[in-house]
Amino acid sequence: AAVVTATLLAGCSGPTRPLFTGAQDRFPEPVAAPVNLAGAGDPYFPGYGNGGYDVSAYDLKIKYDPATDKLAGVATVTATATTDLSKFHLDLHGLVVDKITVEGAAATSTRQGDELIITPVAPIASGKQFVTVVSYGGVPTAITAPDLGVTGFLTTPDGAFTIGEPESATTWFPVNDHPKDKALYAIELTVPGDLDAISNGLLDGKSTANGWTSWRWKVTSPMAPYLATFVIGDYRTVEGVHKGKPVLTAVANTLPKGDVDEAMAQTTTITDFLEQYFGPYPFDAYGGIVIDDERVRYALETQTRPVYSDAFWSRGQNTVVVAHELAHQWFGDSVSVDRWEHIWLNEGFATYAQWMWGEKIGVSTIQEEFDSRYRNPGDRIWDIAPGSPGADNIFSGSVYDRGGMTLHALRKLVGDDKFFTILKTWAAEQRDGNANTAEFIALAERISAQPLTDFFQKWLYETGRPAQ
Ligand code: ARG
Ligand code: ZN
Repeated sequence: AAVVTATLLAGCSGPTRPLFTGAQDRFPEPVAAPVNLAGAGDPYFPGYGNGGYDVSAYDLKIKYDPATDKLAGVATVTATATTDLSKFHLDLHGLVVDKITVEGAAATSTRQGDELIITPVAPIASGKQFVTVVSYGGVPTAITAPDLGVTGFLTTPDGAFTIGEPESATTWFPVNDHPKDKALYAIELTVPGDLDAISNGLLDGKSTANGWTSWRWKVTSPMAPYLATFVIGDYRTVEGVHKGKPVLTAVANTLPKGDVDEAMAQTTTITDFLEQYFGPYPFDAYGGIVIDDERVRYALETQTRPVYSDAFWSRGQNTVVVAHELAHQWFGDSVSVDRWEHIWLNEGFATYAQWMWGEKIGVSTIQEEFDSRYRNPGDRIWDIAPGSPGADNIFSGSVYDRGGMTLHALRKLVGDDKFFTILKTWAAEQRDGNANTAEFIALAERISAQPLTDFFQKWLYETGRPAQ
């Protein structure tokens, strides 16, 4: 009865509303907030992802012919409606849709920019699981990402690969392209028989027919779409087993053998080092991929198998970038941001891990890394607040370095034991999920048993150099 009264009051007490305007006003329905079908509600990138449903699994079957650059795909998307849906969106950049079914029945669709809008024959009720199958194809095209330049699907002389953050999946399959909607993946890549086709997770089988080889990859922990990747081409691979889990590293065969292969060979050593501080490695496969491409000068923490530009080693780099990308397996991949503004939870943590490994191998101490930046009051990192950097600055030095410095300042404030308990607990409690800065601050306060709001306010949310 209390609920009914509240509803009636809410419906009839508006000052500008006439009291009795008709039968429909006697029992007004509570008005639900409208769901934005075209975006996941991220203020930095309002068009990324979609609303109204939650994907649990993608099953992708993709055939790619480097001779024509043509891709032919079938994407089976299993999702649950979170509201009543008479239509819904997937993100898809370029490519042509041939046919869509929803729950086995042909559906109609339209395109609006990178939105694929699907109308099933019958509406889908909130709470219902539904399966959408999209047959699509064409010549994929890349996109431009903030700071990283050209990303997404990129062709190479002998194949192709995909890489990009915060968006890239949309260039090769229909997707709810926001880290908030993590899902399991099965990725089958069919390529001319002499090429390698490497993706995330476990190799679940490989078969050859009529000169084409299908490589079946399986991702068994929820994955954010931008962390899905593949490389197609001529790679030298090293396979092994570590702690009962498969290891697979791959290096583009156009690169001379040397430092780059040695760096990949350290993947499990570095993972074991990080495990001591962050808790158990969260996934069931290890690896790394080094590509040879002038357009990509960075690395990305693609799940279980980060992709590295060879640029790190052509400049005579060491392995700190490997530590950075492997740390992301905990911070970024297993614990993902629920909105892009929280990106320091990925990059600040990975930068800190990079400094930890740098200290271990004698590059520099963490304190030296901290001091060298702290001592420069004119550094750009003091002009950008890493906790709310703005969409244009999600990869700025502040997010990385000031983010890492924030963790070091926290460590000095609460002591080593509590600091590493905070990191381990964060990784454990948020494993396979999505999180935000407020949750991290609450955890740090809980474990350290001290108020930290002012501390984090100065380090994360204000410009200017915090006093020490
Ligand atoms: N998440 C990637 C990494 O740091 C992003 C790379 C961005 N690089 C850049 N130069 N802005 O591992
Ligand atoms: Zn990073």
